[in-house]
Amino acid sequence: MKILGIESSCDETACSVVEDGKTVLSNVVASQIDEHRLYGGVVPEIASRRHAENIGWVTREALEKAECTLEDIDAVAVTYAPGLIGALLVGVSFAKGLAMSAKKPLVPVHHIAGHIAANYISHPELKPPYLCLVVSGGHSHIVEVLDYTKYHVIGRTRDDAAGECFDKVARTLGYEYPGGKFIDAAAKNGDDKAFVLPHPKVQGSEYDLSFSGLKTAVINLVHNSQQKGIEINREDMAASFQKTIADILCQKLMLASENYGYTTIAVAGGVSANSGVREKIAAECEKRNYKLYLPELKYCGDNGAMIACQGYYDYLAGRRADMSLNAVATLSLENL
Ligand code: KG4
Ligand code: ZN
Repeated sequence: MKILGIESSCDETACSVVEDGKTVLSNVVASQIDEHRLYGGVVPEIASRRHAENIGWVTREALEKAECTLEDIDAVAVTYAPGLIGALLVGVSFAKGLAMSAKKPLVPVHHIAGHIAANYISHPELKPPYLCLVVSGGHSHIVEVLDYTKYHVIGRTRDDAAGECFDKVARTLGYEYPGGKFIDAAAKNGDDKAFVLPHPKVQGSEYDLSFSGLKTAVINLVHNSQQKGIEINREDMAASFQKTIADILCQKLMLASENYGYTTIAVAGGVSANSGVREKIAAECEKRNYKLYLPELKYCGDNGAMIACQGYYDYLAGRRADMSLNAVATLSLENL
């Protein structure tokens, strides 16, 4: 079964054709990063306009690369929540038009469910139930993946998402937006013990995360030394920050795995590309004899393949949308 997956929730216009939820026949991603970089972050209005310009050719190219026509497609899957409302609307409207004109079923996909599904592409042997840490620019969740379409969120961020924290720290250190990958590169040349940074204390749920205190600590350290005319070593700060955030994520994930009894673990989302996060969680999983699944780097960030893959499982579970489908800016994974 071939599913066409469309993703436009933030600043990537993406389309992909995936067969049986695992074989990627094409995966086209048009990134708008160069334009948003000028403003130090995603400008929603610009994002919507670029999606509208790009979605036609991105979809055409995805079909061509997969060597198929709309006729060969069994269903159209689209990200409808959560994300930037104007950006989501472009994908949703386009997918509705496509599904109606080609007389194909329309499958609404939750963006975070899509990130989780990226691991089914890289590791078709992975099967629920398992525990997944989803860390992206907009979300940080510890999720029990009960089945391919059923989730229980056991921890979430109280403030910034992990990727947002990477990007804000990167900006403070003078790196371009989005700075996660620059921190990752710089950290390789730095001393991760150079700065001692705070671990958050979250009251209430022991699985919830918080990154604003860590972000503020880095900003204060950098600004204080600037005021004293002392140059801070960017590589050392990047390494210390990355180690701290990797430790925080890993500690919460391991705590959840112990208390909920999971020995199969996955990580997903843009920040799952981070080498420090991958290494820390891999080392901890090895120590405990857990099975760990990490997506290939090309499926960590936003892409259409993860939406087509999740669309396959949503299709099998009977999820369908009609022409009244709307975009939704915020929607819990548990309310699908
Ligand atoms: O999943 P994603 O593409 O978009 C959202 O759904 O938000 O995640 C984007 C986030 C950005 O914050 C970006 O800086 C971060 O993922 N990111 C990284 C790395 N590559 C991307 N963060 C740390 N290290 C990386 N190598
Ligand atoms: Zn995403």
